[in-house]
Amino acid sequence: NIVFLNGQFMPISEAKISPMDRGFLFGDGIYEVVPSYKGKLVGFGLHIQRMQDGMNAIGIKLNKSVDDWRDIAQSLIEQNGKGNLGLYFHVSRGADIKRFHAYPDDIEATVFAYAFEIPEATVADKTLVKQFKVASTQDLRWKRCQIKSTSLLGNVMHFQQGHDAGVHETILYNQHNELTEASACNVFIVKNEVVITPPLDNQLLPGITRHMLLDILRKDGTLQVEERVISMNEVRAADELWITSSSKDIAPVVELDGKPVGNGKVGDIWQLAQTLYSANKH
Ligand code: PDD
Repeated sequence: NIVFLNGQFMPISEAKISPMDRGFLFGDGIYEVVPSYKGKLVGFGLHIQRMQDGMNAIGIKLNKSVDDWRDIAQSLIEQNGKGNLGLYFHVSRGADIKRFHAYPDDIEATVFAYAFEIPEATVADKTLVKQFKVASTQDLRWKRCQIKSTSLLGNVMHFQQGHDAGVHETILYNQHNELTEASACNVFIVKNEVVITPPLDNQLLPGITRHMLLDILRKDGTLQVEERVISMNEVRAADELWITSSSKDIAPVVELDGKPVGNGKVGDIWQLAQTLYSANKH
């Protein structure tokens, strides 16, 4: 497994960072996960833009263009076999000589990237697709969820809650009983053939899959699409429930908190949406 660290490619066993790295001490960093199918990157420009937005939000300065990142991605793909890979990019603020909360202004960011195998792209077939089960709980993370921060303990604890309950994901709602997202996915519901997802704000990550799916559905025009606040009552009464992420595309959820979603089967609107997504994602 060949990885990229601070300008060089090397075997993972040779990749070393300082324990004084603020990514390690404070979770002070930004990351991305970009899928690549048989050498073809999906949503690359959007992913890099989001990573840049995150670095701007937390004041990490790094001189890398989209093309620089693309070169790193392509090298990793070549050196790790051209199968289906997730590309992980990580920029932490860097290593300081002391542990002090304020941002130091004279250190260099740590840049790490590696590739890991991901499953085949999702096939838009109701009979073949993996059926997801989820639990729900109040979102107890922080109020800056639009930043794709490497401080993931809040997400990890919510994911673990679902894992302990024997389900695949945990969907989250705020103190007003409004849906936000899931611990590592965005969430959509379908009601009366309308596809609905929460609007972007500080309560959720602006998912690239979410963005591309909305774009593709609007361009196609067959389905009505809404970005608006969704109550948990609406989620529980939905005909279909989906979770989306770069590694899952659109994953159909058939069970929420032990109860069937809609008729408890993968829905027709999912089949249509995933068909359009598979054909048009880029
Ligand atoms: N997770 N919301 C959260 C909290 C996420 O961590 C993710 C992605 C998403 C979906 O975003 P996108 O469609 O851009 O992948 C939503 C990644 C894959 C991860 O942490 O591994």
